[in-house]
Amino acid sequence: MTEIFLDTANLKEIEEIQGWNIISGITTNQKIFEKEKGVNFKEHAKAILDMVYPLPVSLEGPNTLAGIIKVAKEFNHWETKGCPLKNFVVKVPMLGNGDGLRAVKKLSHMNIETNVTACMTLNQTFLAVSAGATYVSLFYNRMQDWKKQQPANSKDAKGYALSTIRETMKMLKNYDTKLIVGSIRSRNDIEDLVQLQPDIITIPYKILKQMPQHDMTDKTLGEFEDAWREFKRYEKQ
Ligand code: E4P
Repeated sequence: MTEIFLDTANLKEIEEIQGWNIISGITTNQKIFEKEKGVNFKEHAKAILDMVYPLPVSLEGPNTLAGIIKVAKEFNHWETKGCPLKNFVVKVPMLGNGDGLRAVKKLSHMNIETNVTACMTLNQTFLAVSAGATYVSLFYNRMQDWKKQQPANSKDAKGYALSTIRETMKMLKNYDTKLIVGSIRSRNDIEDLVQLQPDIITIPYKILKQMPQHDMTDKTLGEFEDAWREFKRYEKQ
């Protein structure tokens, strides 16, 4: 079963989509927060945690080991109306020097959940799960962007990204770590991914809003509405 997470830090978007009763969590990153110009990070993150509690909310901080641990400790003390907000997940970057893996180990000893982010390969997701990550995130379109930039072998970028996801899913069968697929840019991406059934797809608001829409559905419903009006006109009383 694939769960849907919402990839946003916008409170109005979260409130609206929560009303659809289809989301199981929230993911954010620094670029997503940048769109919420003028807000205070702590206040805003707490508002999201509070709004969707107990659904998990991934929050991302600095890209250094000391910085990751420092913000995780801060999140760990956040509360609302005297109650701890323990639904945060620390997004840990897959750093090339291995510090992200160190961070995952330290945080799991503190019972803090982690989401190892910006993974592009099976090697990276394998390391993240070996370190004990709660979630690993593979970036569907960014994997394709990378593949398209490889001069010697740039063909079938989509096939390459899908096979990395498929291989990661196979590897994850032996672990408790959940796979989040992010970096979604279109409705077609969702149709590619649901066929694989990863644990989670995190979807931006704009794409989620497009998903129920289809012009032929609108035309069909219009025809049915007209027919119903006709039926009512001649209905036996
Ligand atoms: C989610 O966890 C990711 O940070 C997000 O989906 C990345 O998306 P992008 O590739 O559009 O930045």
